[in-house]
Amino acid sequence: MVRKVALVTGAAAGIGAASALRLARDGIAVGVLDLDVDRCSGTVDSIAEAGGEAIALGADITDRDQVRGAVAQLHDRFGPIAITVNNAGIPGFKPFLEIDDALWDHMMRVNLTGAFIVTQAVLPGMIAAQWGRVINISSMAAQAGAKDMAHYAASKAGMIGMTRALAHEFGPAGITFNVVPPRFITGTIMSDNSFAAGKQPMAREAEVQAGPIRREGRPEDIAGAVAWLASEEAGFVTGQVIGVNGGRYI
Ligand SMILES: NC(=O)c1ccc[n+]([C@@H]2O[C@H](COP(=O)([O-])OP(=O)(O)OC[C@H]3O[C@@H](n4cnc5c(N)ncnc54)[C@H](O)[C@@H]3O)[C@@H](O)[C@H]2O)c1
Repeated sequence: MVRKVALVTGAAAGIGAASALRLARDGIAVGVLDLDVDRCSGTVDSIAEAGGEAIALGADITDRDQVRGAVAQLHDRFGPIAITVNNAGIPGFKPFLEIDDALWDHMMRVNLTGAFIVTQAVLPGMIAAQWGRVINISSMAAQAGAKDMAHYAASKAGMIGMTRALAHEFGPAGITFNVVPPRFITGTIMSDNSFAAGKQPMAREAEVQAGPIRREGRPEDIAGAVAWLASEEAGFVTGQVIGVNGGRYI
């Protein structure tokens, strides 16, 4: 079988790193994209240790030229990109009336426009191949809401709408678009920082007890869903929101 190539954004850490490693274990060559190329080396090294192939790509997903450059670099190294995981994102906690235009715009720019820019950059190759998988990492905050997270929840809900629209538009070209909206995934910079700052709406143990599956979510839980959605056998699944949340939102 021909080796496929995947681009994973925000892959220096957390869910992105776990997804990149999991895809590599499945025999996929991975572009590990993050803001800082040096920070990507940890993920690239773990992929190499696992016997996989990866390249570090430094780019800000909000910058179209940087994204184009990274996509070209990945294509030159491994070939056409068949799979993209739009995972890079930022959190935010602010009472709604204190969110100013700049903060709102920044949140939208990174979490929603970033995915728009990256998806536009990879789609022509997928259309040419008449095969593609785009997996967008949203958040359960988009489904259930979350206090002081109106800007974050709106940006992540926008991802769901974009995903469903693109599933219609590019299904005939053999490209699927799906969303994984995580909830309470520990061991990432985002969740560790927000717990440390007391920003999470619930204490850790309360979070665990709130769902039927009584444990913390791990980056590998999301990576498993990503790997399946990226696989050949998920080819009849598109426009879906696949909850990987321990049953917290069912
Ligand atoms: N951890 C959770 O509990 C949780 C819950 C819901 C949703 N999510 C979503 O999952 C995704 C990954 O979260 P995580 O917890 O692994 O976060 P993380 O902070 O550990 O990793 C996010 C990565 O994205 C990168 N990034 C941020 N802005 C970028 C930009 N403009 N360009 C390129 N890279 C950029 C960061 O440098 C970082 O390495 C995010 O989109 C987040 O919103 C996480």
